[in-house]
Amino acid sequence: MSAKLLVVAGTRPEAIKLAPVIAALRRLKGLSVRVCATAQHRELLDGMLDAFGIRPDIDLDLMRPRQSPGEVLRRCRKALAPVLARERPDLVIVQGDTTSALGAALAAKDAGVCVAHVEAGLRTHDPRQPFPEERNRVRIDRISRLWFAPTIGAARNLRREGLGPDGIFVTGNTSIDALLWALRRPGPPENRSLARLPQKRLVVVTLHRRESFGRALDGLMRAIGQASARLPGWTWVLPVHPNPRVRRAARRLAGRSAVKLIAPLGYLDFVKLMKRADFLVTDSGGIQEEAPTLKKPVLVVRNKTERPELLGRGGKLIGNSGARLLRELTRWARGRRPKPPARNPFGDGRAARRIARALSAWARAKRPRP
Ligand code: UD1
Ligand code: UDP
Repeated sequence: MSAKLLVVAGTRPEAIKLAPVIAALRRLKGLSVRVCATAQHRELLDGMLDAFGIRPDIDLDLMRPRQSPGEVLRRCRKALAPVLARERPDLVIVQGDTTSALGAALAAKDAGVCVAHVEAGLRTHDPRQPFPEERNRVRIDRISRLWFAPTIGAARNLRREGLGPDGIFVTGNTSIDALLWALRRPGPPENRSLARLPQKRLVVVTLHRRESFGRALDGLMRAIGQASARLPGWTWVLPVHPNPRVRRAARRLAGRSAVKLIAPLGYLDFVKLMKRADFLVTDSGGIQEEAPTLKKPVLVVRNKTERPELLGRGGKLIGNSGARLLRELTRWARGRRPKPPARNPFGDGRAARRIARALSAWARAKRPRP
C-alpha cells in the first residue's frame, strides 16, 4: 500500500523550492504524490510550475486583486477542507512562511492530517518582521510533525521552542537544488530585452516586503533613482513584483534611462540575469540564499533577517531606509563590497533527496505492509 502525500504550493518561492522535492519524491517507489496549487499567486505561480514541468492535480484558484493575507488565509483553509476530505492524504507538505503554507497547515490540522514543513525553523524572533511571515512560520512549525530545517541554526531554533528532536532533519535549502538545476540549463534568455542590457556595471534589485510598504518603500525607490543619477555608467534592473503597492512605488523610477523596470522574469531568465550582475539588492528570502552560489554580494534591505548565515559572507543587512541604501549603493558601486563565501551556507543541492528519503522512511514506518 502506498502512502499518499499532498504537496501544497501557492506562490512563486514555494513553487521553486518544492519543485525539487516533488521530483525527488516521484523518483521513489511506494509514495503517491499529488500537487495542490492554492494559486495565492496566479501568473507567478503558473510560470514557475511550468518552468519545472509540474502540472497541479488540484487548483484552488484563490488569487484576487489587492487580497489581504487574512482573506487569503480564510479562503485557503476553507477551500482545502473538502480537498482533504476527498483526497485523504497521509501527509500534507508545505514550504516556507506564506499564507498558503499556513492555510494548508491549519486545514490539515482541522482534518487530523500530519504536516511536514520544508524550510522549518527560520526565525527573526520579531513577529512584525517580516510580516506576516514570521508569525506564519512559528504557527506552521507548531502544527508540524516533520521539520526539514535548511541549516543547523534553523534546527536549533526549533529545539529551543520545544519541538522535535525526533522528526527534525537538517537538509539544506531546496532553493539551492533548484538553482543548480537552472544553472545546468544554459542558452540565451527567453526574454529578449535581457540581451540588450550592458555586460558590465549591472545591479539587480527586487523589493516586495509588506512591512516596507508606504514611506519606506517610496524612500528605497527614491534612493535607487538618486543612485542612478549619482553613478553614471551603472544600470539598475528591477523586475517589479505584481503587487499593486509595489508597482505604484516603482512608478517613481519611470523615465530614468539607467533604471530598467521590467515585468517579473521566468526563473531561468532571472538566474541568468543574477549571474550577470555585479551585485544584488533585495528584501527577498530566496535571493539571499541564491547569492552565495552565484558568487554575488548582496545588500539585504530589511531590518531583521532569518538568514543570519549570510551576514559577513557576502551579505550585508542595511535596514529599509532610503538614505542608508543610497550610501551603501554608492560605496558598493565604487568597489567597496564584500567577497562572497567559497561555500553556500544554505545548501549543497542535495536537500530534496534528503527530504524524500526521510519521508519515505516515515511512510514505511507509518504504513506497515498489509
Ligand atoms: C507573498 C508572501 C511572501 C512572498 C511573496 C513572494 C505571504 C504572507 N507573503 O507576498 O512571503 O515573499 O508572496 O512573491 O504569503 N499578484 C498578481 N499576480 C501574481 C502574484 C501577485 O497580480 O502572480 C498581485 C495581486 O494583486 C495580489 C498581490 O500581488 O493580490 C499580492 O499577492 P500576495 O500573495 O498577497 O503577496 P504577498 O503577501 O505580498
Ligand atoms: N525570481 C524569479 N523572477 C523574478 C524575481 C525572482 O524567478 O523576476 C525568483 C528568485 O530567483 C527566487 C524567488 O523568485 O528564487 C524569490 O521569490 P520572491 O522574492 O517572490 O519571494 P521570497 O523569496 O522573498 O519569499
